[in-house]
Amino acid sequence: MEAYNDYVKRNFFLGLLFLLLALIGSLANAETHHYNFVVQQTLEHRLCRAHNILTVNGQYPGPTLQVRNGDTLVIKVLNSGKYNVTIHWHGIRQMRTQWADGPEYVTQCPIKPGATYTYRFPIENQEGTFWWHAHARFLRATVHGALIVLPKLGSPYPFPTPKHEIPIILGEWWNRDVISVQRLAIFTGGAPNVSDAYTINGQPGDLYPCSSKGTARFPVKSGDTVLLRIINAALNQQLFFKVANHRLTVVEADAAYTKPFTTSTLMLGPGQTTNVLLTADQTPGRYYMAARAYASAQNAPFDNTTTTAILEYTSAKKGVPSRPVLPQLPAFNDTATVTAFSAQLKSLAKVEVPTKIDENLFFTIGLGFVNCAPGPRCQGPNNTRFAASMNNVSFVLPRRASLLQAYFQNIPGIFTTDFPPVPPIKFNYTGNVPRALWQPKFGTKLYKLKFGSTVQIVLQDTGIFSTEDHPMHLHGYHFFVVGQGFGNFNARRDTPTFNLIDPPARNTIDVPVGGWSVIRFVADNPGVWLFHCHIDTHLAWGLAMSFLVENGVGKLQSVSPPPADLPPC
Ligand code: C2O
Repeated sequence: MEAYNDYVKRNFFLGLLFLLLALIGSLANAETHHYNFVVQQTLEHRLCRAHNILTVNGQYPGPTLQVRNGDTLVIKVLNSGKYNVTIHWHGIRQMRTQWADGPEYVTQCPIKPGATYTYRFPIENQEGTFWWHAHARFLRATVHGALIVLPKLGSPYPFPTPKHEIPIILGEWWNRDVISVQRLAIFTGGAPNVSDAYTINGQPGDLYPCSSKGTARFPVKSGDTVLLRIINAALNQQLFFKVANHRLTVVEADAAYTKPFTTSTLMLGPGQTTNVLLTADQTPGRYYMAARAYASAQNAPFDNTTTTAILEYTSAKKGVPSRPVLPQLPAFNDTATVTAFSAQLKSLAKVEVPTKIDENLFFTIGLGFVNCAPGPRCQGPNNTRFAASMNNVSFVLPRRASLLQAYFQNIPGIFTTDFPPVPPIKFNYTGNVPRALWQPKFGTKLYKLKFGSTVQIVLQDTGIFSTEDHPMHLHGYHFFVVGQGFGNFNARRDTPTFNLIDPPARNTIDVPVGGWSVIRFVADNPGVWLFHCHIDTHLAWGLAMSFLVENGVGKLQSVSPPPADLPPC
């Protein structure tokens, strides 16, 4: 008995010691990473001309940040450019670090030229492919980069470890200054000029003039499996992506693991990310990876060009390089391929989807028009200016203070909390919409959510200008996509078809053209969170709203005071 007690005691202390060591170990493993971002004008050569663009640290795309789950990031941003700027960390939840989220006039006022602001936030229980981008007017076009969060040290991927990893950033290039492109559109009320090229890691690729030399190349060894981390950073365009002759196994979307499935074509809306495994199992040689538009709006102009990069087998014969094999991309309006792709996205395991819903919301999303007297400032279709709205409210950003500041410091007159939970008028959303319903109302309206409430939102596309696929992004949250379909959502018919077992978790959902998506989440992150179309043209036209998630109980469930260097308006 004595001996047994001793044994228990010894083991107890051994266990305690072990626990302590593990704790110290995990704390020691969590690192703090310091970065300096200098936003600056940079001379770049693309498409046979020199062009000054705004970059971070002179790089386009900007620096890739690679950290681990549990680490803390401290990024000091110095604005050496000529425009007001902010940086957003797309997909990072920012629990209790709301002031670091970044959308201009939502969680902060912009960083003025010459000023600095330090973003400081931990990564808490998140891993995968994220990205960062400017969240001020059109500056995101060139101010963006990858943010890769690896699993904690010692925890593996839920798939075979790839030989290496390749970030693939899809972008959009204008020969003109993007701010002047936007200014012109704001002046005329018409649509902004479409881009002059798409890019892969900053390069248009072989199919554009003067672009061969810079084309991005990715060497692979025959037989190796690599992980492609694909980010659609394009300003205004959904993109198809394909690699010639190679199958792609999807393992993650929007920094959430998925049940692996194999496909030849991906579609990513602006804001979305997709990780795929690619095995170099073809005849050693050179293969193009390529991206081009998925354009779902009818009769709307779009950039119809194709960007390429080259996958090169290192064992391919030396000497004169052969012309790479070009993949056959879907037609620009191939919605069937998009639907087939997105239908396969499922969470890796069974997930906990809220089933008792506190807030049952129905938001229409789409473009609209404001009537105007013919003239240079009335260049939208048939004497109108373009606008966009959710539930007929066209979102207007404040100017005097950010929404989060106005809320935290009780500044009156900045916003109201009467965003409608359902459309003010019911109509045949995806049918022929009567002209009387084309004109949205402008306002800075928020929707209040109680801390911890369970939320369902039906996102319903409208056909006022044209039905169109909209990539809707929610800040501060990941949500489950429990259902999608075409036409008008019908609760009685469609609710029974919801996937409540293993729906994908996302931060950006492409609502099908002329259709609907239903998302669910728990409002467990207090603060003011922007919900918007990630096509920046639509965002600028007002396709946005914000949630005001109230505090829960105690410090851990409340918005913390702003950092001392928060930029003033
Ligand atoms: Cu990726 Cu509101 O943004």
